[in-house]
Parts: sequence; structure tokens; C-alpha cells
Amino acid sequence: FSFSHQTPKGSCLEAVKTAIDAGYRHIDGAFVYFNEHEVGQAIREKIAEGKIKREDIFYCGKLWNTCHPPELVRPTLEKTLKILQLDYVDLYIIELPMAFKPGDALYPKDENGKFIYHETDLCATWEALEACKDAGLAKSIGVSNFNRRQLEMIMNKPGLKYKPVSNQVECHPYFTQPKLLEFCRQHDIVIVGYSPLGTSRDESWVNVSSPPLLKDPVLNAIGKKYNKTAAQIALRFNVQRGVVVIPKSFNPQRIRENFQIFDFSLTEKEMKEIEALNKNVRYVELLMWRDHPEYPFNDEY
Ligand code: A2P
Repeated sequence: FSFSHQTPKGSCLEAVKTAIDAGYRHIDGAFVYFNEHEVGQAIREKIAEGKIKREDIFYCGKLWNTCHPPELVRPTLEKTLKILQLDYVDLYIIELPMAFKPGDALYPKDENGKFIYHETDLCATWEALEACKDAGLAKSIGVSNFNRRQLEMIMNKPGLKYKPVSNQVECHPYFTQPKLLEFCRQHDIVIVGYSPLGTSRDESWVNVSSPPLLKDPVLNAIGKKYNKTAAQIALRFNVQRGVVVIPKSFNPQRIRENFQIFDFSLTEKEMKEIEALNKNVRYVELLMWRDHPEYPFNDEY
């Protein structure tokens, strides 16, 4: 369950409550989604109702680009916990491998409108995340949008205490990540697939030249056979190959639909057919930051 940009006031509270009622337990959040207060409230209301216990929920929070300097990491996580009104997050991840200038502006720009970057030392940031885990503020720690080289940089760090448990990256039938998935499997790093339904196709941040995933004829034909939608087939595909999915919806019916993927399985042949849909084209390219020294998407994987 994920939020990739700012949400209308209150909509997130209702969506998370609906999701918990539908059976979701993993909630993918971030400070930069500006709705952590609503997520926290939804979780606390559901605990008060007796529907769930805190330990049933798996909340993932994210460290934003302006908070990479090691001394900022713990205070930033503490701020998130205060907003959520929770004692710990289940997973805390570095949202992107690209540091921005620290300060109040989350997207700092100079007078010419150019983003102001910051010296990035991913190993130093990682050590600060390790300290958050040791302090009990995060049960597990991981990364997001890291390429193979950046993962290796962390894993080869002298004195590494904890390796990343997960790497959250774009992953769906049109961008199946075969190489990164294999690399992460070898190193016991879970891939969490964002935009598993092919995004909301918001032109301000999505590469809409890649066709809409859910219109795909193969996904729809396989869906017909199981009486499922293309969305359910896309989600089932990833779950069945060991990729965690975080579909986003604010619509109660679609929130429930996206959870109804555990009562059928795809055949090996169907899995291969869906794998063959891979176009190696990202919906989320983040091209506005391609001149950042740690821009992750120039490497093959
Ligand atoms: P909505 O919130 O109106 O349901 P992703 O998870 O890849 O980021 O995709 C999110 C987009 O997909 C949102 O625009 C969401 O819209 C839409 N969506 C979510 N679930 C479904 C579904 N089951 N069928 C069609 N569209 C969906």
C-alpha cells in the first residue's frame, strides 16, 4: 500500500482504515507524502477498535534526501515517529541514494531553479540507520532506488553491522527487474516493488510514453481465465516470484480488489508469458535529478 505524492486531506485516513479492514498489514509511507499523521491515526483507531494489535502492522517509513547527513538521521526518524504517534517503525529505508542540501526546503533549488544537491556518503548515512535499529526505533533497515553498485557499496562497507533487508524499486510486468531481482535473491535482499500497477500516469512525474500496464492484452486474457482483473494478475505475478507489492488505491472497491490475489495461482507458462512482457522501460525515471552524481538509473541495473 503506497502513496507517491500528496493526498487530499483525510483521504489517507479512510484509505488506510479500509485497507486494514480488507486484510492489509504492510503500509508503505514516508514523511514526504505529508500524510503520516493520517496513517498513524488510522492504525491507532484500528488498534482501539480491537481489530489489530500494533505488532500486526508493518509500517515502512523513509528518510528523505535532505536528511542524509548522519547527525540528522535519528532526529528525522524521531520526528516521523512523533507524527505517527508510534514507538517504532517496522522498516526504515533511505528513500533515494541522492542527497539534497539539508534544510527546510524538501526540494531545494537555487535562483535559477536548479536543484541543490549535497555531498552523498551513503555508507555514513547507513551507519546512522544502523544506530536507529540498535536504539529500537526501527525494527529493520533498508534502502530504495539503489542500483547494484550502490547496494554493493553498503554491503562491502568495512565494519558493516546490518545489511539492507530490502530494496524498494519499480517492479511490474513491463519492468520486471530480472537482473536486480537475481542479484538481490543471491544476497537475501527482498525486492519491494513500487508502482506494481503501472502508476497513476500523472504526467508530472510519470513517463507516459510507456503504454498503460493494465490495458495489456496478455494480463487481461489471463485475468479472464481466473475471473480476475489485469491488476490482480499483475500483483499475483510479482507475489508469486517473491516480490513484495505495494499497490496504491484510494477507492474502497479497488483496495479490496487488490487484496484478492491469494485464492489462485498462475501456471509456470503464464508466469513466463508475463515475464516476456518486460519492456525494460521505467515509468518513474526521475530525470529531473539525472545530473546528480548518485543518480541510480544510468547503470544497467
Ligand atoms: P485509484 O486510487 O483511483 O484506485 P500504482 O500502485 O502502480 O502506483 O498504481 C496506482 C494507480 O492505479 C492509482 O491511480 C489507482 O487509482 C489505480 N488503481 C489501483 N488499483 C487499481 C485496480 N485494481 N484497477 C485499476 N486501477 C487501479
